[in-house]
Amino acid sequence: MVCVPSATCPLPAGLLLIAPVLMAPTPPGLCTALKTLNDSLSHRRRYMKHNFPINYTIKVHNEEVFRLSNISRLVEGLEELVLQRLWFQVNQGVLKKVIRVLPERHPSRSYTAELESRFRDAEGVFVQSLPSEVFQQELPERIQDIWDRLTEEPDRVPESSWRFASPKSLLDHFLHTMLCLFRDCFASTDDNHDCEWHPKKGHDGY
Ligand SMILES: *[C@@H]1O[C@H](CO)[C@@H](O)[C@H](O)[C@H]1NC(C)=O
Ligand SMILES: *[C@@H]1O[C@H](CO)[C@@H](O)[C@H](O)[C@H]1NC(C)=O
Ligand SMILES: *[C@@H]1O[C@H](CO)[C@@H](O)[C@H](O)[C@H]1NC(C)=O
Repeated sequence: MVCVPSATCPLPAGLLLIAPVLMAPTPPGLCTALKTLNDSLSHRRRYMKHNFPINYTIKVHNEEVFRLSNISRLVEGLEELVLQRLWFQVNQGVLKKVIRVLPERHPSRSYTAELESRFRDAEGVFVQSLPSEVFQQELPERIQDIWDRLTEEPDRVPESSWRFASPKSLLDHFLHTMLCLFRDCFASTDDNHDCEWHPKKGHDGY
């Protein structure tokens, strides 16, 4: 059976062992906000690559290079909600760092500012859609550790905890992880069939 991964896909029994992710339906307002972000991100090549010098990179926390593979490593035993919160935390820092290197009159400045404002809108809807107790709950330790590193005073972060990444690659990860972590907003598109902790489409007769 071919099934685009979404909340309605039947899970093969074995998968429950590796992906016990609890899914709550994403509120419709959040989906609207995330789709707006998705639309902005479709212009990322132009604004995050063409407008920058070749091989331009910015300095980010290790943890801000937040790929699908990171999620599939972290996902075990976690609620999807926790990963969504981490996604907001990571990408808030990513956008801030991109904006910081753009002078006021840089051709990508207004694009990035708009992206950030759409991101903030989505975050606002996300926070409002959840009971406030959710944000008072303790995070699982491995997530809390990442969180602490992301929010550490920059001058207290050791050199080895920074790395360089291109703005375009950071926004690629931003988009791909969004399509997977909020996949019930994007289930009708073909964008999210490669969420790694789900079986690939048509894989092994599934
Ligand atoms: C950009 O990076 C690639 C791969 O590392 C390298 O081959 C190329 O020479 C670099 N280009 C410039 C202009 O630095
Ligand atoms: C993602 O994985 C890389 C190694 O591939 C690691 O350096 C980075 O810290 C991880 N990020 C998170 C948020 O776990
Ligand atoms: C996300 O953006 C892509 C590229 O513009 C578009 O093809 C796709 O339909 C969008 N997905 C949704 C759900 O809006």
